[in-house]
Amino acid sequence: MNSANFINLAYLVTSILFIVGLKRMGSPATARQGNQMGAVGMLIAVVATLFDRQIVSYPVLIAGMVVGAVLGYVSAKRVQMTAMPQMVAIFNGTGGGAAALVAASEYLHGTGFGTHMMPYGAGFTTLLTALIGGISFSGSVIAFAKLQELMTGRPITYPGQQFVNGLVALAMVGGLVWLTMTPQPVWVLVAFIGIAMVLGVGVVLPIGGADMPVIIAVLNSLTGMAAATSGFVLSNNALIIAGALVGASGTLLTILMSKAMNRSLGNVLFGSFGAATVIAGGAAQEVKGSVKEFSVDDAMTVLENAQSVIIVPGYGLAVARAQHACRELADLLQDRGAEVRYAIHPVAGRMPGHMNVLLAEADVPYDQLMDLEDINADFAKTDVVLVLGANDVVNPAAKTNPASPIYGMPVLNVEHARNVIVIKRSMNAGFAGIENELFYMENTMMVFGDAKKMLEQFVRELKGSTAVH
Ligand code: TAP
Repeated sequence: MNSANFINLAYLVTSILFIVGLKRMGSPATARQGNQMGAVGMLIAVVATLFDRQIVSYPVLIAGMVVGAVLGYVSAKRVQMTAMPQMVAIFNGTGGGAAALVAASEYLHGTGFGTHMMPYGAGFTTLLTALIGGISFSGSVIAFAKLQELMTGRPITYPGQQFVNGLVALAMVGGLVWLTMTPQPVWVLVAFIGIAMVLGVGVVLPIGGADMPVIIAVLNSLTGMAAATSGFVLSNNALIIAGALVGASGTLLTILMSKAMNRSLGNVLFGSFGAATVIAGGAAQEVKGSVKEFSVDDAMTVLENAQSVIIVPGYGLAVARAQHACRELADLLQDRGAEVRYAIHPVAGRMPGHMNVLLAEADVPYDQLMDLEDINADFAKTDVVLVLGANDVVNPAAKTNPASPIYGMPVLNVEHARNVIVIKRSMNAGFAGIENELFYMENTMMVFGDAKKMLEQFVRELKGSTAVH
């Protein structure tokens, strides 16, 4: 077998591993395996590429790989669960940046540093890659800076912002056509990529911090597209397929997240990213009734007699890092004969799959994790619902109050249960910045405190009472 055939065969294996791995990531039970398949696929692709005859300098390439691998390994090991979105953002940005650099180098070689034309098709694809990669790189860097609080996480807006963004986009398209039709020197190419980067910054600036996961999904899909087009530029099948997979998954994720947050994709894409932050700063609406505060002791009398318990984890559980204490409590309740399940809302937390990943860390059995649509009817026949640091995803206003900013968002029907125990630190609002009438309802017991501390107290009390029994 000649080396080109060998490389293409390896790329075929890589592509199969990527596709099957992606499929396996669809369920928490198989997600780890899916991730490993993807990693093995990537390793095969990298090794196969090392056999490529066009490689100029192995030492430089291997030095780059070592630096990248060390940086990637250390940051992935050290990152906190709550900081995952910004890590995804910056890793995504490096992908976009790499695609832009590859395209720039191909353009310069293809045009003999601006002395002759590239074929139109090849030139256009190369420049398109540089453009999408540039947008994705700078947009991701701004997303990272916002989430890492290196700059304000609030939307940065000014009058006529969309118009200015539109002009920059127009300049970029003009540049794309101009550079495709006529070879240009290096500085023009650099300016062209610079304009794309200005657009990336311009698009992400007006987006509110808490809406960042959606824009990160959009940027992900852009990087995927840049990788796919760079695959055409380099005639590399693995890049084309991997890029298309990333592009398609990023787009699907964007659509799913917008739906789960009750926003249309058009609303998300065209200038309303800041809206959620406006909501967050908005006035809380009046809720009638009074809040009943209970001690852990009081709540325990209800919990220890429950036959059926549903745990609803939310962002606060991740903040408190209370997943292990939560698992321990669930185990104790099960030992006493109660049925315990977890209700997972698709946008609980701050990133897709946040609660699944969090609970997997504490080895919560996958068969206890129930999706919203599978468990929502069961709340009515449940003794106790434990709401742990969740707020918006259990807010009945989404069903009852057309004036509410979250009206229409699917929520968990926790208020239908016999008893609802809510653990949070205060009456503070969640992401949407609105009151939650659940906290005022007759069957709701509010237990104020940090989720981890409170759960540990529950565990101690339950162990004590079990010992007495
Ligand atoms: P939130 O509505 O954000 O509420 C979290 C609650 O946790 C807060 O009310 C807070 O109240 C409490 N909390 C914080 N730290 C705590 C701690 N240490 N111990 C106990 N409680 C603590 O969370 P949710 O119900 O998970 O809803 C998620 C929201 O984020 C939705 O509005 C969703 O649209 C939005 N969002 C989600 C995503 C994805 S992809 N998941 C992306 C973007 C936006 P206290 O301060 O009183 O404790």
